Amino acid sequence: MSELDEGKLIEAARRVRELSVAPFSNFKVGAAVETEDGKIYTGCNIESASYGLTVCAERVAIWKALSEGERRFKGLAVVTGTEQLTPPCGTCRQIIWEFCRDTTVVLANLNGDSQTVRMSELLPRAFDARFLKEATREK
Ligand code: THU
Repeated sequence: MSELDEGKLIEAARRVRELSVAPFSNFKVGAAVETEDGKIYTGCNIESASYGLTVCAERVAIWKALSEGERRFKGLAVVTGTEQLTPPCGTCRQIIWEFCRDTTVVLANLNGDSQTVRMSELLPRAFDARFLKEATREK
């Protein structure tokens, strides 16, 4: 497994951000997830007129990778056009944890600022399928 190429991941997220469909918030987000063997899948946020159906960039990237059969990931980047770096929302944190585990998350903006955090910092004491095991044993 090669090291995470943060620059390449940020660049991919920055590019896909341009495709963001965000007519309601005008808050464009791009995300890119890298598999253990170095493949990159990207996603942008897609908003719905029925606001609650909006999907974040991170989940689009992860769904695309999973639906192509990918299961092992080594990092994810999130790029926004704001000065403040944007961390994944609560729903995305849960999904990133479930499918990418304690992966590296790179937060970046268009000014070249970036920060690297681990999922366990963003979502301490996370819930996942391991907690379901006990209940499925009891009958
Ligand atoms: N959004 C993302 O795509 N990722 C995040 O981590 C935060 C929020 C999107 C959802 C919505 O389209 C817009 O940003 C404003 O919330």
